[in-house]
Amino acid sequence: MVEISKQTAADDAAIETLMGEAFGPARYSRSVWLLRSGPPISDLCLVLRQSDTMLASLRFWEVRLEQQTVLLLGPLAVQPDLRGQGYGQQIVKEGLARAKAMGKWPLVLVSGEPDYYPKFGFVPAASYQLDWPGFVEPERLQFLELQQGALAALRPPLRVRAVNA
Ligand SMILES: CC(C)(COP(=O)(O)OP(=O)(O)OC[C@H]1O[C@@H](n2cnc3c(N)ncnc32)[C@H](O)[C@@H]1OP(=O)(O)O)[C@@H](O)C(=O)NCCC(=O)NCCS
Repeated sequence: MVEISKQTAADDAAIETLMGEAFGPARYSRSVWLLRSGPPISDLCLVLRQSDTMLASLRFWEVRLEQQTVLLLGPLAVQPDLRGQGYGQQIVKEGLARAKAMGKWPLVLVSGEPDYYPKFGFVPAASYQLDWPGFVEPERLQFLELQQGALAALRPPLRVRAVNA
């Protein structure tokens, strides 16, 4: 039986090990970490467990998109030997549903695999001319609307920065 719940401090070490395996030792030097300056949104820090074993982890941070505050999805990782069994999709769907229900954010932004996120409703962000803090492959940037009309209201180009930058 798989269950998705909020992370606790007791999960931190296992999550750090999982993220190290998934993204490598240099992960904190990637430009996306310049946007994760404060703590993540604790209500959206989730783990997927089976029989007390953590199989997947997902976190979200708030970031500034010009004057708006939006959500940044990630990091997301599934235990290496359990990938391709739907756990990634389950935890992402749950995280996005919780984010939408909280009603605080118009949009979610992700820097992720261009082929993985469209199944959740993400669309390419290239046409919004995002000014990202550092190097990123533009095709990785994708948006999801949590509030109808949020994408249509955007006026490119748009600066993406940490909330306290
Ligand atoms: C990416 C990741 C989270 C996906 O989780 P998962 O549990 O393996 O994926 P799921 O079983 O939910 O989904 C499988 C589907 O996603 C696709 N998929 C899996 N990894 C993918 C990737 N890196 N890029 C594109 N598609 C991917 C599969 O082809 C499959 O497609 P289908 O449903 O059409 O058959 C997982 O592979 C992982 O932890 N990877 C290492 C860390 C990482 O890359 N994190 C995300 C970066 S954006």
